[in-house]
Amino acid sequence: MEIITLNDPLAVGKKTAEIFIKAIEKKPNAILGLATGSSPLPTYQELIKAHKNHQVSFKNVKTFNLDEYVGLKEGDSHSYRHFMNENLFNHLDIHKPNTHIPSVKHEALDHPEQYDELIKQAGGIDVQLLGLGVNGHIGFNEPGTKFDSLTSVVNLTPSTIAANARFFKNESEVPTKAVSMGLGSIMQAKKIVLIATGLNKSEAIKHLVEDAPNENWPVTVLKNHPNVTIIIDEQAASQIKK
Ligand code: GLP
Repeated sequence: MEIITLNDPLAVGKKTAEIFIKAIEKKPNAILGLATGSSPLPTYQELIKAHKNHQVSFKNVKTFNLDEYVGLKEGDSHSYRHFMNENLFNHLDIHKPNTHIPSVKHEALDHPEQYDELIKQAGGIDVQLLGLGVNGHIGFNEPGTKFDSLTSVVNLTPSTIAANARFFKNESEVPTKAVSMGLGSIMQAKKIVLIATGLNKSEAIKHLVEDAPNENWPVTVLKNHPNVTIIIDEQAASQIKK
């Protein structure tokens, strides 16, 4: 596990975008695993900039997002599909049918693990981007999630609902369920890049660095993966012993 500490979220975004651009240069039809939340935004802005400068094309790229809320109306502006269109896909030359978000249609929720099958059929994820929940969740895999879990419908913890309430009018509007790739699904990726910025992520980063893999801190599963890069800012790194 390589850890790169940089000054601020912008530097984290630049470095992360560089890794994704290199992956696409090497393999123009790369399969990317993508994440939502505020942490990836600087990365997405850098990718858009690079595309506008003709540095990279997403024409043959396929993407799979980690998760989606369950219970929102189709087209709801809080959905992760909306987030990804607005903050990334609409600004690239990517073909929308090549962008995948776990389906929350009734039939799909009966067999959410079909999403893993879809990823496998596409050839598997080459580079997976991850954010980090304050409680150590990745995707929406809350503490206690089994390390071998596949895509499933999950309940969000009160702390995650509270953390994500800032995107909604009030906390009562935050969905209590989501469909999320499992920890086992995420671990299938060939390479994983986790980004975390801000003081509120420093406790989870400390557990990632200091603990043996354990289900109380889902992010520690990454210690079992052979190709992981952690890119954090000074604040997120503040509880790690130097
Ligand atoms: C949500 C998402 C996660 C994301 C996390 C952190 O819970 N499901 O994928 O990593 O939020 O978000 P932020 O980057 O806004 O702190």
